[in-house]
Amino acid sequence: MEVLIDRLDHQGRGITTVDGKITFVENALPGEIVDIKIIKSEKKINEAVLEKIIKKSPKRVEPICPYYNECGGCSLMHLSYDDQLLYKENKVVDILKKFGGIEEAKINKIIPSPDVYNYRNKVVLKCNGKLGYYKRKTNDIINIESCYLVSDKLNNIIKKLNENGLDKEVKEVTVRNIIEDDYSLTLSLQNGLNNYDKYKKIVSKLTLLDKNNKEITSNNSKIIGRLGKKEYLVSPTAFFQVNTKQTVNLYDKILEYVKEENPKSLIDLYCGTGTIGIYVSDYTEKLFGVEINKKAIEDAKENARINDVKNATFVAGDTKTILGKNNLKSDMVIVDPPRSGLDKNVISDLFKIGSKKIIYVSCDPITLARDLKILNEKYEVVEVTPFDMFPNTYHVENVVLLKRR
Ligand SMILES: C[S@@+](CC[C@H](N)C(=O)[O-])C[C@H]1O[C@@H](n2cnc3c(N)ncnc32)[C@H](O)[C@@H]1O
Repeated sequence: MEVLIDRLDHQGRGITTVDGKITFVENALPGEIVDIKIIKSEKKINEAVLEKIIKKSPKRVEPICPYYNECGGCSLMHLSYDDQLLYKENKVVDILKKFGGIEEAKINKIIPSPDVYNYRNKVVLKCNGKLGYYKRKTNDIINIESCYLVSDKLNNIIKKLNENGLDKEVKEVTVRNIIEDDYSLTLSLQNGLNNYDKYKKIVSKLTLLDKNNKEITSNNSKIIGRLGKKEYLVSPTAFFQVNTKQTVNLYDKILEYVKEENPKSLIDLYCGTGTIGIYVSDYTEKLFGVEINKKAIEDAKENARINDVKNATFVAGDTKTILGKNNLKSDMVIVDPPRSGLDKNVISDLFKIGSKKIIYVSCDPITLARDLKILNEKYEVVEVTPFDMFPNTYHVENVVLLKRR
């Protein structure tokens, strides 16, 4: 069936209408005339696959990845990078306007990623004796030799692991490298693994996780991350932003806001290994960080020592509980929650803290818009800056400055 693609949805899929139903077509671009096959039909929507491009968009580029058509990792590699940026910028404007009531004028131009390919410092791969990703919309593994999103150094480790073969007990493999030749390898196991020496020969910092993601063994597996002038130790299960160069740009935006305010005290919620708080710690007298992952909090405490930050307190726990229990006051609060955004109770606690300013770092514009709408009762948005942290995918990160009404 021949159709004209109208626009892209928030997941980078082409949209057209067939018999009055919105129809999603992966890999198709606006303005293209394409031949499609409907593979799933529901009451109001269809899902279709692209069979043939009849009229090509001038914005289309040839994806450089040999696995592109099968792999579910990248969704926009067929769109030129300039147009990916435009798409993400428009998507942020659209979502924040529609679901958050934010004026377009408050949204800055997107900050492009310094690297479009090979930018990731971490790769998570599925395993069936060799390494791979899930095929688009299935749990079948497509084996890969390398990935254009991850750094050359990580690709080198993927190659070595594949050459050595992986045991059937290994279900998932995570490799990280942020600076120099400092790697960590984490194997997620279905059952125990007797002999892991062969993996240790490839990467000496090895961690084994059981079915429930609990550490079975981890021997000094923290790796070093460097952002600007600060150094951080990062445990295998602790969060660290994946696009190192772009993280410096994002943290510099936060630094700009903190410098401007020079708060007496600063709260860093969802602080991970303490990265943001420590990055800006020279511009506050007191820093208080909260994070649910105990290992990350151990790292944060060590990271404060490494960076000679003496004004920091880091606490392990759920933000919801910690804020509820402590009657905290602060001039400025930074929140960097996971995709799910802020719990309603956390927003009430933010109202109680009553800081002059809030910096909201978000990796999901939809939950961000929802939360800004609730925050709007007491906080107005000053500006929003989108950052392209994840080129070739539909994801987009945002930093929002809010001020108390
Ligand atoms: C997007 S990461 C941000 C980490 C850190 N700010 C950074 O830039 O590296 C979100 C963090 O929130 C933590 N987290 C998730 N749910 C939480 C909760 N309910 N309370 C506290 N921390 C939570 C995760 O473990 C993760 O480290």
